[in-house]
Amino acid sequence: MDNVRKTAFSGVQPTGRITLGNYLGAIRNWRPLQDEYNCLYCVVDLHSLTVTQVPAELRKNTMDLVALYIACGIDPDKSSLFIQSHVHEHAELTWILDTIAYVGEMNRMTQFKDKSRKHADNINMGLMNYPVLMASDILLYQTDLVPVGKDQLQHLELARNLAERFNNRYSPTFVVPEALCFQNGCSIKSLQEPTAKMSKSDPNENAVITLFDDPDTIRRKLRRAVTDCCSEVRFAEDKPAISNLLTIYSLTADESIADAEKRFDGCGYGVFKDAVADAVISVVEPIQREQKRLAADKSYLENVLKQGAEQAERTARKTLDKVYRKIGLIGRVR
Ligand code: TYM
Repeated sequence: MDNVRKTAFSGVQPTGRITLGNYLGAIRNWRPLQDEYNCLYCVVDLHSLTVTQVPAELRKNTMDLVALYIACGIDPDKSSLFIQSHVHEHAELTWILDTIAYVGEMNRMTQFKDKSRKHADNINMGLMNYPVLMASDILLYQTDLVPVGKDQLQHLELARNLAERFNNRYSPTFVVPEALCFQNGCSIKSLQEPTAKMSKSDPNENAVITLFDDPDTIRRKLRRAVTDCCSEVRFAEDKPAISNLLTIYSLTADESIADAEKRFDGCGYGVFKDAVADAVISVVEPIQREQKRLAADKSYLENVLKQGAEQAERTARKTLDKVYRKIGLIGRVR
């Protein structure tokens, strides 16, 4: 890795239905960083085990997501693209950070509380430990910048706290990372309940646009999206549904919200929703085509992953060796 450039790291769980929210809130913002930062983009398969997975599906979803990263513009020659479980240092650092993370602070994580409610029959230790694994992902690479959606900011704050706590206890070791969260798009909402985020795990299919939906499905879901009172296309706090659709339109049509408001002034919701559908389809369709092509080329993907894991591991090993030394473990003679 280039030692002069700063480092950016991010990841998505391979849990199947990658949503338009994942794309607009996170993945879309990764590509522009590649020319300025050492970028590491990871498919976080270990994280997804906190919810029961069907092994064959997890394998397929993982490779599909690798292909999707590349289809979204992640260039394996510029960034390290790898699978989390291929670099075992992630799990090892998690154990060390576990010993400085407090049960009280883990209990306060809102996503842990949400997921515990949703998966009441499977509140496993991994679910609680999940943010520490995420902190390890980030801290292993001395990451400066973490491009994520709004729902991950609390986890990022924990990563910062753990880095500072470790640095204070054992002397400076980790870079304290910053979040990169674009105000516009950092929280894309459900199409059916626009005060809740658009979520992969939403059981209501109509609430979520996935990056694997075909054009007709995308159009149908948008036509069925709930709206607010009055037929005005305006971004406002008391119009959460239309504001969400305006955000989606603005990001996919690459037009400011103010210009979009002018464009759809007096048009009514039907015309507006169709325009949102056109804009979303024009972004999603080429990605889907490229993703499909890449997913069929298994040997190419395997090469990308081999190279990515090798690059990532060099930095991860260095950080972990340093951590082990600082806390008093005897370094292995190699
Ligand atoms: P995950 O897989 O739930 O989501 C991946 C990314 O998508 C963003 N996102 C959204 N952004 C806007 N609107 C939405 N409706 C929306 N839904 C999801 C998330 O904020 C995230 O950036 N724990 C993480 C994955 C992870 C990670 C990391 C991220 C593991 N280790 C290290 C950054 C750095 C997660 O479950 O994301």
